[in-house]
Amino acid sequence: MSTADYKTMTTAQIREDFLSFFESKGCKLYPSSSLVPDDPSLLLTNAGMNQFKEYYQGIKTMAEIGACSCQKCLRTNDIDNIGDATHLSFFEMLGNFSFGGYSKADAIAWAYDFITNPDHLGLPPERLYMTVFEDDDEAIELWHEQGVPYDHISRLGADDNFWAAGPTGPCGPCSEIYFDQGEEFGCGKPTCGPGCDDCNRFLEFWNLVFTQYDRQEDGSMPELPHRNIDTGMGLERIAAIMQHKSTNYDGDLLQSLIGVGVRLSGHAYGDNPSADRSLRIVADHARAVTFMIGDGILPSNEGRGYVLRRLLRRAVYHGRLLGIEGAFLSEYIGEVVRLMGDTYPEIQENRALIEGIVHAEEERFISTLDAGEKNLLDELHALEAGAQLSGEVAFRLHDTYGFPIDLTREICATSGHEVDMDAFNREMEAQRERARANANRDAWGAANDVWVALSDSYPATEFCGYDTNELDGAKVLALVSDSQVVDGASVGEEVSVVLDRTPFYAEMGGQVGDTGVLEGIGGAFKIEVRDTKLHAGGIVAHEGVVVQGTVGPGALCVAAIDVHRRELIRRNHTATHLLDAALKRVLGEHISQAGSLVAPDRLRFDFTHFEAVTAAELAEIEKLVNEEIFAAEPIVTQIMGIEEAKASGAVALFGEKYGDVVRVVSTGESDMPFSRELCGGTHAHSTAELGLFKIISESSVGSNARRIEAVTSEGALAYISERLTLLDEVATRLKCRPEDAPARVDALHDQARTAEKKLHEALTGANSGGIEEALASAIKLADYDCVVVRRDGLDAKGLREVWDAIRDKATGPIACVLATKTPEGKVALLAAADNKAVDAGFAAGKLIKELAGYVGGRGGGRPNMAQAGGANAQGIDEALAAARSALTQDC
Ligand code: SER
Repeated sequence: MSTADYKTMTTAQIREDFLSFFESKGCKLYPSSSLVPDDPSLLLTNAGMNQFKEYYQGIKTMAEIGACSCQKCLRTNDIDNIGDATHLSFFEMLGNFSFGGYSKADAIAWAYDFITNPDHLGLPPERLYMTVFEDDDEAIELWHEQGVPYDHISRLGADDNFWAAGPTGPCGPCSEIYFDQGEEFGCGKPTCGPGCDDCNRFLEFWNLVFTQYDRQEDGSMPELPHRNIDTGMGLERIAAIMQHKSTNYDGDLLQSLIGVGVRLSGHAYGDNPSADRSLRIVADHARAVTFMIGDGILPSNEGRGYVLRRLLRRAVYHGRLLGIEGAFLSEYIGEVVRLMGDTYPEIQENRALIEGIVHAEEERFISTLDAGEKNLLDELHALEAGAQLSGEVAFRLHDTYGFPIDLTREICATSGHEVDMDAFNREMEAQRERARANANRDAWGAANDVWVALSDSYPATEFCGYDTNELDGAKVLALVSDSQVVDGASVGEEVSVVLDRTPFYAEMGGQVGDTGVLEGIGGAFKIEVRDTKLHAGGIVAHEGVVVQGTVGPGALCVAAIDVHRRELIRRNHTATHLLDAALKRVLGEHISQAGSLVAPDRLRFDFTHFEAVTAAELAEIEKLVNEEIFAAEPIVTQIMGIEEAKASGAVALFGEKYGDVVRVVSTGESDMPFSRELCGGTHAHSTAELGLFKIISESSVGSNARRIEAVTSEGALAYISERLTLLDEVATRLKCRPEDAPARVDALHDQARTAEKKLHEALTGANSGGIEEALASAIKLADYDCVVVRRDGLDAKGLREVWDAIRDKATGPIACVLATKTPEGKVALLAAADNKAVDAGFAAGKLIKELAGYVGGRGGGRPNMAQAGGANAQGIDEALAAARSALTQDC
């Protein structure tokens, strides 16, 4: 079979052609959604259909007949396997979707047209094979109607041809399209065909799912309200096919990235299988890392931040294996942005930040690798020749230092050791078990969650709390208790209440949820609301406890928030905007909000920055914010289109997703306000309400982010009063005025230092004749003198000073045996001698060992200097007597 019997297309051409083809069929083009899914139970976006979940479920409807997209996806089910010629972590998925709009017949006809029509892919029909679900006769006929011969259509079982995003929820039979690479790629077995497990001859490149059932817990599968289409074509796979290549990594985009590694390492691609593997891993992971950070994910030790960290570290490690020195990933980021920045502007816009975060993380991991290596060498040193390194140690290196097991094995092998891989694998499996608990459960997320179910029945709760604190006539729609919908709740019961409209702000964007009361009309019930939370489909839960009467669905109530608390929250929320603007002015445009907490008593603001903020910078930031407060600027909110908002310079949160219409909050009316942000939160009416802004701490959070905590208005007053009270108390204790306290503290320090020095001199005997006295009392031996004295109140260091002074003042060969009862009641002994005394036979180490027993301790050292410590101060005099007698007997 010829390899040149169809045309060639680049990745960019295929992407563009696919999308315009489906647009011409009436599908609405959706931009790729973020890698961070809206669904809180889904770790990372892993399929084109993720962003359309609510359309499948019928929660939302689409005006157009369907949708199409090129979706960024990340699948990390088994990161460690990525590196072979086919697996990718990050990939692009081309897809067309229908939610009752167009039919299975249309989907099949369009797919066939797109892949065979010479104006599009123009693949030779004789090289195309289709598989269908075993009982899907309809699909067989539909393919046949397109001209596909029956012997190019085969039936496969549920493992291959039934696609479900999760154990329950929408699912359906699917049909996969395969490309025949030719007999030379085959295993030659008679059973060989599409889906063959033994060879790569038939490449699957497009999956057409006919999502028509809604699988229930009991396994039954009623039909969905409408028949749906969900197709997914891996762009890298089809690009390789359209470039007459057989693996994902041979397509133009990934080859350009592999080229970066070739240039940096000097290894040619295709020369050496293990270098090829590393080149593929670095290319894949560097691209994944660029896109993940571009979507607002930061490295961390949990969740998606951990996936990012693992990919990044694995890339660094494989760079090291390739012999690339130092931090190098920015070279790849530049290439990813060059290749894909036009299609995905977020990586272009955030390039500096992506590079900064990657570089900092890379540097840190390089030093971690060095530390891990040292740790491993220490472990190996302690092993007997030929012994195995324990699996637990290897796992600890992997888990604590991020030290890759391959590297551990390699280093072990150089000194003739092996790793106990069974034990290592057991530890890894246990860790995987732990990870599974919070992993990417399924593509539909928590479809069975009570809140998802409620969002099927009710629209998003209407929020009317920007200007209203109390709403008369809010209707109770549903009640939830212990994750179940309940018919009613009475006094003492905890309950979450769903209303049709509410002035309560649900915790979001860092702003805490409101508290307050729900009072039944006519006093039928009263619920104290302790928190407000947002759930699936925009449903707001008022979490509280019934303190009076009984509540049930349909009841009407007055919903009233705690106004004073909300006022404080408003001020702190406005303060975070002013702080963000001031940080950008003082530290630079790389500052991006990484998290926040807006509570009544304080605010916390996390932002990307790679070093501590200096005291001078903090003072400047605080000053800028306070200037805005004193300028009493009105806070202006406007609703506008997202593009208009961005054009007006409004700050969007890094990694945040916005709808087409957004709320913009600005300080003042001017075209260039001090702060302008996209924000759904509640704010002060004027900056003046903040009264005063005071930063109370600056610290590090993780590797690339800093945290500022601050207070405003009542919080600032409370903070300052508390500080002033403390100062007054200090001044009272110092017996001075507050303004004199620093000088008074300095003076007390000086006094204390002088007193300590004097005491020390008195104890050692320095400057008071004590040394001369000691020398005069020395035992006179044949060739040297030996001072044997006790000086209580010193420590081991003090004894050494006494010896130094004795040696300095001695006129002939000299040795000493000194003892002290330390201020803590312990014993320190010192024996020391100059060279001549040692030559004459004084052996400090030997002597001290004998003496240590008298004071209940142990000691040792060299002939010229030895020390001992002990706990028995009663034995000091006896020890010194023993020293005297030992010295006089020896000589
Ligand atoms: N959801 C299907 C898949 O991921 C088709 O898009 O393969």
